[in-house]
Amino acid sequence: RSSEIPTLPGFDSTTAFLREGYRFVSRRCQALGSDGFRTRIMLRPVTCLRGAEAAREFYRPGRMTRRGAMPKQVLKLLQDKGSVQMLDDAPHRVRKAMFMDLMTPGNLDRARQIFDEEWRAAVRGWTNREIALSKGVRDVMTRTAMRWCGLDPAAHDSAARSAELSAMYASAGKLGPAYLRARLLRARSERWARRVIGQVRKAEMPDDSAVARIAFHVDADGAHLTEAAAAVELLNLLRPIVAVGRYVVFVAHALHVHRDSIPADRNDDAMNAAIAHEVRRLYPFFPVIGGRVREPFEWRGARFDRGDWLLLDLYGTNRDPASWPMSETFRPERHEGLDEQPDALIPQGGGDYLKNHRCPGEWLTVALMTEAVGQLRDMQWHVPQQNLDLPANEFPPIPGDGMRIVVNPGAP
Ligand code: HEM
Repeated sequence: RSSEIPTLPGFDSTTAFLREGYRFVSRRCQALGSDGFRTRIMLRPVTCLRGAEAAREFYRPGRMTRRGAMPKQVLKLLQDKGSVQMLDDAPHRVRKAMFMDLMTPGNLDRARQIFDEEWRAAVRGWTNREIALSKGVRDVMTRTAMRWCGLDPAAHDSAARSAELSAMYASAGKLGPAYLRARLLRARSERWARRVIGQVRKAEMPDDSAVARIAFHVDADGAHLTEAAAAVELLNLLRPIVAVGRYVVFVAHALHVHRDSIPADRNDDAMNAAIAHEVRRLYPFFPVIGGRVREPFEWRGARFDRGDWLLLDLYGTNRDPASWPMSETFRPERHEGLDEQPDALIPQGGGDYLKNHRCPGEWLTVALMTEAVGQLRDMQWHVPQQNLDLPANEFPPIPGDGMRIVVNPGAP
């Protein structure tokens, strides 16, 4: 590979990026024989990077900020002002610890237990019918998210929350009416979350639930979060747990499409976790993550100055042939027996959890997916003829027909 960072021909790459989506960066890296290139997106100069080495550079503590690194439109649906993603340094570490402290082995097991109950209850209603899993799983995930955070789904209109939370992540990459509707639903969700924080703060003896931890969190400035900021962080837990439902759909897709690559004689937690990792590696979710340089640095003969905009290719790094032998092949065994997650497995970001923006929900995601793999492997179901393609330019996509399945009698 070349040790320089070439510039793409043409003035701006926005339309190519929207058209090619997940493959945009890696295709060009492949053609140029380079792990990066410079271009413009939305008329702004940007350097696109991919691969484990680029990820290590991108995630050096203190080097990048997320401020000014994502289009405002996406930000409004996914993060918003006052959220952990917009913080740096000590304020970020203190806030991030609030999230990481929730990820104890006991809490991860509890998430699996709740998912198990919600899944079984939903499956009873699916038996002998054809359902679109992409729809069916939404309520399962919303109820799981609410209960895991310490909220009773019946007392908080879980159906309305389900619509709001799924619209946020499903429409962040869209324009037009779908986007505007999602903004409206987000506003409604924020109003609800503020009321919840207000109620929880009235409790004399706060319990140990996630929502109470957020309500009573002491930030780097020694004060509790404002009601608005606490509401944003509550949504920062609920929304992405609902988004894990998309990965559950991908698990079902993979168990069907890659059935010959699943060792039939191994239905244990180790193998099911490996299947979950292989789904995270190969299935599309966030195509790239943006950052702006805070501390100038050099890499591969190129200089990156303060304020420069970088896009790290998450999807392409997960499939980089330099890190992954037979990178396009579904092979869960590749994840077994590893002490650490490889630097090239970054569907949820890379680097250190506390010193960087790596997703604090990663272990929870893997726990829930491992449970979903087990549930789906234990269940009798089949996949009627349908369009199973994943559109390349939806962020994130759903299989063409919503992953329709028929649950056979005798399912749990
Ligand atoms: C950050 C992906 C699930 C909460 C992120 C980032 C990515 C990501 C790519 C940005 C990393 C960066 O800026 O470097 C995903 C995917 C998920 C998922 C694909 C599965 C569908 C979750 C879950 C939670 C969560 C289950 C909460 C329980 C967050 C938060 C941040 C974040 C709060 C901001 C962290 C920070 O700025 O320090 N996630 N995530 N995510 N995620 Fe997730």
